Amino acid sequence: MVTKDKIDAILADYKDFKIATICSHSSLQIFRGARQEGIKTIGIVKADKKELYESFTHAKPDEFIVVDDYSQIPEKELLEKNAIIIPHGSFVEYSGENFEKLNVPIYGNRNSVIWERSRKKMFEWLHKAKIKTPKVIKPDEITGPALVKFPGAKGGRGYMIVSSYEDFQLRVGDRECMVQEFLVGVRAYPHFFFSPISDSGYKTKQGRLELMGVDRRVESSADEIARAVSAGMKPTMSFTVIGNEPMVLRESLLGEYMEIGKRVSETSFDLFGGMFGPFCVETIVTEDLEIYAFEISARIVAGTNVYPDGSQYSLFYYDEPMSVGRRLARELKVAFKKKRLSEIVY
Ligand SMILES: Nc1ncnc2c1ncn2[C@@H]1O[C@H](COP(=O)(O)OP(=O)(O)O)[C@@H](O)[C@H]1O
Ligand SMILES: [Mg+2]
Repeated sequence: MVTKDKIDAILADYKDFKIATICSHSSLQIFRGARQEGIKTIGIVKADKKELYESFTHAKPDEFIVVDDYSQIPEKELLEKNAIIIPHGSFVEYSGENFEKLNVPIYGNRNSVIWERSRKKMFEWLHKAKIKTPKVIKPDEITGPALVKFPGAKGGRGYMIVSSYEDFQLRVGDRECMVQEFLVGVRAYPHFFFSPISDSGYKTKQGRLELMGVDRRVESSADEIARAVSAGMKPTMSFTVIGNEPMVLRESLLGEYMEIGKRVSETSFDLFGGMFGPFCVETIVTEDLEIYAFEISARIVAGTNVYPDGSQYSLFYYDEPMSVGRRLARELKVAFKKKRLSEIVY
């Protein structure tokens, strides 16, 4: 892990800054948002993807750095260009273990990856924040349908539903996994934005929290499985994310979600020095209106892409179109002006 002091020293030399990230779906709102805020951008891209990302006229970066492989982030070039990296899900995934070691300032706190990477740690975080989670079941205690999650399974791919210990032994064996109670309810993915600088939003101990939007993932086959069942089939349920849909919360849930965001944020300071900027809590709401959380993403999530011009919530904070991408750029711009970048960049 690169030390915070080292990153602070780099930042202290920046006379100006540019926003850099790997070209991906989320990078489109990051680049467009930066442009709306008057900040120059750098897109890191593999040669075969350049044409695609160049084709989005208003969302292409001002310049590209072409790489052979995303595990080789061009640190020197980025430093020369005074870059600050905005990490998104694909960035963390593609850069892998190199992420912590990157010798370039990254928006947010890179310590968060350690807590995000391990499902066990994530549940520890949620419990410390006093947020309900699905029960974690020991394999020999499985009595009904339970969800088996393997490490690193991206986008819910490869998850399994088992119904008994025998079933578990047969299909999972001694592979590393976490078994969770299968929750029945409606999924909701709130997009939060934490700022220690802003004076608008929901108050927390360390700053303010905005609700930038809520989405719901559309997962195959789970979300269309009723059709197959009606057709007389017995398909297995799987959770491959195909896309995202916008969502607004029932009125009585709004306050509870803000409290969940607040507690996740405040606990992040107790555990690893805080989470800055965008984060998402993946939840399921039962018919008794109980909210359960099963995952935290400590960065911009794909679901925010349904709101490139702001959401049903962001317009209650901003009189202008405010995507999460633009909000990120705004935060960096304000922090730079106030000489407070080092608080939100590591
Ligand atoms: N305990 C649970 N009960 C029911 N469905 C769940 C549960 N946990 C996860 N899911 C479903 O599985 C999907 C993927 O789970 P998640 O833990 O978010 O995996 P990933 O790490 O791939 O994002 C979720 O979006 C949700 O639809
Ligand atoms: Mg998830």
